[in-house]
Amino acid sequence: MPRAQILVTLIAALAAACAPPGPTVSRGEGLYMRHCASCHGSDARGGGARAEALSVAVPGLTGLAAAHGGTFPSEAVIATIYGYRGKQLGATMPEFGPLFDGPTVGWITPDGDVIETPEALVALTRYLASVQDEI
Ligand code: HEC
Repeated sequence: MPRAQILVTLIAALAAACAPPGPTVSRGEGLYMRHCASCHGSDARGGGARAEALSVAVPGLTGLAAAHGGTFPSEAVIATIYGYRGKQLGATMPEFGPLFDGPTVGWITPDGDVIETPEALVALTRYLASVQDEI
């Protein structure tokens, strides 16, 4: 292989290795385990280790679709995680805004609007959507 071609191949491999993995369910799972499982439980059914120390009950997150007529409430989940509601409610759940400073992706709302949304936030939301109870 000519040297230039080796270099190009190496650079391509390096770029692929460094590229963010995008808003995949498995990336969301990793983020969930790192940032959320301590309160919401590693199976997302509540009862994480930190939950006991809180004065409020930490909800399980696998029944969100069932509680919303069978449709996973993505927008509400995104808003909750991002912390839009947090301050208003004086809520216990921490704000994760800064965690989502990375690249964004176009999120299509039910109204058809496209909102630039942090990939990590979309990944988390997709992960939670994937662990909903059967209805
Ligand atoms: C310090 C504990 C704690 C951590 C960490 C935490 N949460 Fe929460 N979460 C709560 C509590 C408590 C509530 C109930 C509402 C409130 O008081 O804020 C809640 C509510 C929610 C809700 C709304 C549930 C519903 O029934 O509407 C979602 C969705 C959620 N959390 C997702 C997450 C995700 C995703 C993460 C990780 C990025 C996370 N939470 C990290 C404590 C936590």
